[in-house]
Amino acid sequence: MTDLNVEDLNKAVNTQVFDYSTLKDAAALLKQGKLVAFPTETVYGLGAIANNETAVRGVFQAKGRPEDNPLIVHVSDISQVHDTVANVSPLAQRLMETFWPGPLTIIFPLKEGVFAPNVTPGKKSVAVRMPRQMETLLLIEMVGFPLVGPSANLSGKPSPTAVEHVLNDFSGTISGVIKAQSSISEIGVESTVVLADDEQIVILRPGAITQNMLGKIAPVVEMTASQQLANKDVQSPGVKYLHYSPEQPVYLIPIEYTLSDWLKEMDKQERKIGVLADEKMLKALEANKSFYSSYSLGSEGDVASATRQLYAGLRYLEQSSCEIIFAQALLDDDAGHAYMNRLTKASNFVL
Ligand code: TXA
Ligand code: MG
Repeated sequence: MTDLNVEDLNKAVNTQVFDYSTLKDAAALLKQGKLVAFPTETVYGLGAIANNETAVRGVFQAKGRPEDNPLIVHVSDISQVHDTVANVSPLAQRLMETFWPGPLTIIFPLKEGVFAPNVTPGKKSVAVRMPRQMETLLLIEMVGFPLVGPSANLSGKPSPTAVEHVLNDFSGTISGVIKAQSSISEIGVESTVVLADDEQIVILRPGAITQNMLGKIAPVVEMTASQQLANKDVQSPGVKYLHYSPEQPVYLIPIEYTLSDWLKEMDKQERKIGVLADEKMLKALEANKSFYSSYSLGSEGDVASATRQLYAGLRYLEQSSCEIIFAQALLDDDAGHAYMNRLTKASNFVL
């Protein structure tokens, strides 16, 4: 760690890196109330055992997370949900059976006295998901109780999709991190968050389980951030905070922009430009103009690759010390919606 202040130095801990073969040691730390980050198919989570109030407080403190923003609880098994929430609607049951393990978080009515109260500050509900990541499912089983796991980034920063991202934000402040076998998380953006109380599914945060996929189970509506802010009952508090942002201003470049539109925008800048775009656009730009740094989203039209690379790209460009980031839009259709939701939140300027 380079920029610790004196207070931090007093608290500094040795952050151990675990893997599949040392999961038991990581589980032992979690049982003692320590913080250990874990990989998931979406992004890394900052783990703590969900019935220890002090450990959970540590998660808020380490992240600098606003205290009214509830945490997601991670389970290794559907039966853990039945044991820990007040009620499972038939619709929620179907969603679990269809999409778990996987990138879908479901909001359940809270059962008092199970999770530490600061997991769900001021809420009568609890958000639960079962990740599709073998190491983490085994870890939860070894701990024997669900784990809280907000994304393992400092509050406001892009979420972590690689072990290096977690270490960048938390080396010296958390007890450990489990390194996944793959170098980058499979999906790359956080899970879809839904309410499923009765006959209808309400999307509170879009993700890899899309509106079309959910629509095969029941009618679906998405509540936008502004609709959620206007409706106190179903509000997902995370929507009101600035998210996923690098230090530098981010310009969202519309999908309909041609090469010459890109070049015109770039010519207006006197700052060092970092570009996040697909390989084809990067090659075309590089052939016409020199700029400071770039990161590839993958082949043109590969939505899964772009979504997987989005946060890694924002983090890479932030560290490249460019002065402004130009990021390429995708088509905001069913498949591209989660990418566009996160990139729009990260962008200060939409051209
Ligand atoms: O993919 C993911 O969901 C990742 C990985 C690590 O599992 N976790 C994650 O957690 O993104 P976090 O804490 O960064 O985001 C949780 C979101 C926030 O927007 C929060 O406001 C919302 O879920 N949320 C949590 N509990 C809620 C509740 N009871 N009611 C409504 N929204 C809730
Ligand atoms: Mg987060």
